[in-house]
Amino acid sequence: MMGVLRTSRRRIVRVAAASLLVWIVMPAAQAQQQQQPQQQQPQQKPAPGAPLVRTPEEQTYARFREWAGRQPPGTPGGPDIVQRYRAKLAADGLAAAAIDREIAIVVEQGQQIAIERWNRILTSPNARFNHEPNAFLAGMIKGRTPGTALDVGMGQGRNALYLAKQGWTVTGFDPAAEAVALAEREAKAAGVSIKTATLRDDEFEFGTARWDLIVLSYVDVRGNAERVLRALKPGGFVVVEAFHRDATKQSSIGGAVVFDTNELLTMFSSLRVLRYEDTDAVADFGLEKTRVVRLCAEKP
Ligand SMILES: C[S@@+](CC[C@H](N)C(=O)[O-])C[C@H]1O[C@@H](n2cnc3c(N)ncnc32)[C@H](O)[C@@H]1O
Repeated sequence: MMGVLRTSRRRIVRVAAASLLVWIVMPAAQAQQQQQPQQQQPQQKPAPGAPLVRTPEEQTYARFREWAGRQPPGTPGGPDIVQRYRAKLAADGLAAAAIDREIAIVVEQGQQIAIERWNRILTSPNARFNHEPNAFLAGMIKGRTPGTALDVGMGQGRNALYLAKQGWTVTGFDPAAEAVALAEREAKAAGVSIKTATLRDDEFEFGTARWDLIVLSYVDVRGNAERVLRALKPGGFVVVEAFHRDATKQSSIGGAVVFDTNELLTMFSSLRVLRYEDTDAVADFGLEKTRVVRLCAEKP
């Protein structure tokens, strides 16, 4: 979700708008900066040597970041922190319309930053993630007749390419354009075909009874569960791998890829569970041994 893991010298605050995974990295030093009074919409003064904050949107976002960086350790990220910021703006006396504008900018800027970050991580050969296909997925497709597969948040395409090489007709999408472009180049070099789209999950049309397989590998599952249930063909199956909540005790991980005990089972309770694992394993993102959850389930 997912570069998911960060060192303890940084704080990560995740801002999720609808289902987009958004990560904001907070250097510790920045958290010590003084807050600007909100009502006056001040020009942010950059620290010596810091890049200039150029646009009003960037200034709005910088104010949010500065405020978020001063929240107590353990403050939940995601939509929670955005709601807290909304409450803070209201307490500062901002009008409702101005608050809505600020929040919309914060979310939009956060999304852009997250996408740029994924572009950097996923196109770096040295980034700490498994560049090979997800092993659970590879195990779950064994013996299956290839059909149509959808890779949600495909990243640089490690899973999409693997499926295509196994004879699946693969579509993958992701908002990180450079990662998608890398997947396309790799597919061409490997002589396989994949359909791709540079879109977020709330923009992509999943369709109805369209896919024999849907892959959710270290991406948001909660926000996509209903779409997946609708979009699977009868007899189609979903493969999920992500983090158990316990994994957040050792690393900062965005909430969208973190699940409680048996949460995936509840989420897909209308499906026939073929395999569910809640186990200590080396996670594909971060490459550390941690508590990982996996689900393979079929639509009746
Ligand atoms: C941890 S990576 C996983 C990539 C890939 N699924 C894999 O396992 O290699 C998370 C991916 O989610 C993508 N992502 C972030 N927000 C998204 C959204 N709203 N819809 C779809 N993908 C998104 C990121 O761009 C990134 O490629």
